[in-house]
Amino acid sequence: MMVACKPKLGQTHWVLDQVLPLDYSIPEQYFTHAPKGGWQNFCNLLSRDVYSEGDSQALHDYVMSRQADMSADFLAMLRLWLADELKHYEALRRTYHSLSGVSFAAMDRCFSERVHDFEPLQITLQDEFTLLVTLMFDEIGSVYSYRRDLAEYYQHFGPNIQKIGHHLVKDEGMHFNNAAELLLARHQHRLGEVRTFLEKISQLEGSLKTYYKTFFLDHAQEQYRFPKHFNQVIIRVILARLGLGQRPTSKELKELWQWVPEGYKLVPIFDTATRRHAAAVS
Ligand SMILES: [Fe+2]
Ligand SMILES: [Fe+2]
Repeated sequence: MMVACKPKLGQTHWVLDQVLPLDYSIPEQYFTHAPKGGWQNFCNLLSRDVYSEGDSQALHDYVMSRQADMSADFLAMLRLWLADELKHYEALRRTYHSLSGVSFAAMDRCFSERVHDFEPLQITLQDEFTLLVTLMFDEIGSVYSYRRDLAEYYQHFGPNIQKIGHHLVKDEGMHFNNAAELLLARHQHRLGEVRTFLEKISQLEGSLKTYYKTFFLDHAQEQYRFPKHFNQVIIRVILARLGLGQRPTSKELKELWQWVPEGYKLVPIFDTATRRHAAAVS
């Protein structure tokens, strides 16, 4: 009989009210000195990111509707994860409000109108194993994506906003790690399936073209911001964390969040209507 060991679950502890109080207002100087186009790009980005974090509640509720199939350790991890993601949702609401002036009531309205469609993502939702592998894929993608956002946007709007960016990167890394711990502790016998399954997730993401408001695979809406080989590199990071391969070099990892399309100094705004990059941002 195989004995499952106890996964070591972690959680970071930070208090949102201490970092970004509800009534926080960004000092004018940061708007004046931010790189040209940075404010506009940041608002554009947040108008999507805010709600993707909030979609964690819908994914949580979907998984909980099948909680009888999940282990106690998995459910314990999910509780920690949801608390963090909802904190991220509130943190981004405050960030977005202080940057753009969009009211909390308007954000509530926008969020309540969202339709969460889990149907296209069925392969990721089959069981605890597929959920954990998808979570690893999604969370490590978020680590590099927030690292990019931090360098391009968060850091230009003062220490409080910058700290939010730092916490996001750290928390998503912790979620990645917790999912890895669970896979190693409870699903050792299926580790041989991970590589093929990751390729399937990557293909699915490529075919989706849009984001179905399911928390998972929200980068489908942001693919233009990352190099073409982004998924292949993060797949290698995941395999390495599970002891199934070699970690990419630091140069390869750096490229994930420092890459910009040729001819640009910053990733420009993407016009979803024309599917083209808008004017260059220097
Ligand atoms: Fe998050
Ligand atoms: Fe996360």
